[in-house]
Amino acid sequence: MIARLLRSLLIVGTLLASCETVSFAEEIIISPRSITLPTDPFSFQSGTGQEIANSYCVICHSADYIYMQPEHSQEKWQAIITKMKHVFGCPIPQEQIAALAAYLFQQNSVSPLSQRPSP
Ligand code: HEC
Repeated sequence: MIARLLRSLLIVGTLLASCETVSFAEEIIISPRSITLPTDPFSFQSGTGQEIANSYCVICHSADYIYMQPEHSQEKWQAIITKMKHVFGCPIPQEQIAALAAYLFQQNSVSPLSQRPSP
């Protein structure tokens, strides 16, 4: 008797749970929402070396991460890129490091982050 009662309670519970799921699903279907994805204003800016940066630097972090860095000398950029290659495994070919260092050094002064209006 008790087993029977428990079984029917279980069935009612399951039915209730599935009804809830259905109405939840309906709610999702009948209330469409639109979202606007943010555009990425922080891709690498045009310039000689942009392609190298796009090929090898956004594998692990975004362009704005690099634009957020303080201003560095060209030698310092070269050292950072060399560190990315040898310590973290960035696959940039050795012969492209100097060109990329020149590009990143130049990007320091044209960073889209520094052109943002102050809040
Ligand atoms: C294989 C992954 C990987 C790639 C590819 C890579 N990085 Fe990094 N980068 C890292 C890691 C890991 C850190 C360290 C983050 C931390 O310390 O929190 C880092 C940190 C940095 C920093 C912060 C300063 C520093 O010295 O730690 C700069 C600047 C930087 N990367 C620039 C670059 C540039 C430029 C490239 C393209 C040549 C590049 N990264 C490619 C993994 C990578």
